[in-house]
Amino acid sequence: KQHVARIKQLLKEKDAVLVAHYYTDPEIQALAEETGGCVADSLEMARFGNQHPAKTLIVAGVRFMGETAKILTPEKTVLMPTLDAECSLDLGCPADEFTKFCDAHPDHTVVVYANTSAAVKARADWVVTSSIALEIVEHLDSQDKPIIWGPDRHLGAYIEKETGADMLLWQGECVVHDEFSAQALEKMKHLYPDAAILVHPESPASVVKMADAVGSTSQLIKAAQTLPNKKLIVATDKGIFYKMQQMVPEKELVEAPTAGAGATCRSCAHCPWMAMNGLKAIENALENGGKQHEIHVDAALREKALIPLNRMLNFAA
Ligand code: MLT
Repeated sequence: KQHVARIKQLLKEKDAVLVAHYYTDPEIQALAEETGGCVADSLEMARFGNQHPAKTLIVAGVRFMGETAKILTPEKTVLMPTLDAECSLDLGCPADEFTKFCDAHPDHTVVVYANTSAAVKARADWVVTSSIALEIVEHLDSQDKPIIWGPDRHLGAYIEKETGADMLLWQGECVVHDEFSAQALEKMKHLYPDAAILVHPESPASVVKMADAVGSTSQLIKAAQTLPNKKLIVATDKGIFYKMQQMVPEKELVEAPTAGAGATCRSCAHCPWMAMNGLKAIENALENGGKQHEIHVDAALREKALIPLNRMLNFAA
């Protein structure tokens, strides 16, 4: 309570707005909503930050989201509750190794997921988020361009299968989604035979195969509203339950099980880095800014990374 009141005051004082990802904890999402900020996926977060008049953005999410905001709006101060909030996809795709991979296939168009460092984005022709990846790859495939895809291998394999595009995949994965288990989900399905299964495509192919709806966070929230089922089994970070339940208060949401979990287990599917975005950390960031909280992106890198990011935003517009 104390933190919430102080954060509200600081947001006003510092002309700041809170932008939160669906995977952050419910109290953070609620605060973003209450204070005129936004709760969204990474594409919408980027757009919102870009268009909002506030001088300071406070980005509750993981580091690449803060970097993306800074690349798009260098004139703004971009703060994060903690700069230690990493992403396993980003960590699993070091820029030097990825550059070598790309250089070995110079005829390929390089498409990278938003969940990457500014340096990896700078090497790419296109940046995509999960909500727009299929459409962009379809577009590139219609021009017969072979594609290098990085870093999420599950999402890459899903897109390859859906589009039939010629894709070379980097072998990265999200620690949260990679843990969902088809076997355990099969057992759960027996317990809830009338439930629909909603799956994020960063999950293994065996799990995606069982889905009634596959999509990004925003697409899964829509699917929850459109599907007639009263029970929904959801395979993505459980942070999404806050927004999803808000949209379908009459439905029962069940967490999909992770590997090794029993059929009735409530999985531990929550990103440990997203969980670092606490209220106290937000208050600290607004109060102190500086080395612990402010995002900086090298100017030369920024200029290069902006090109594929803008391609995505223009394509989405
Ligand atoms: C994002 O784009 O924010 C993440 O990939 C999660 C999602 O929205 O699917």
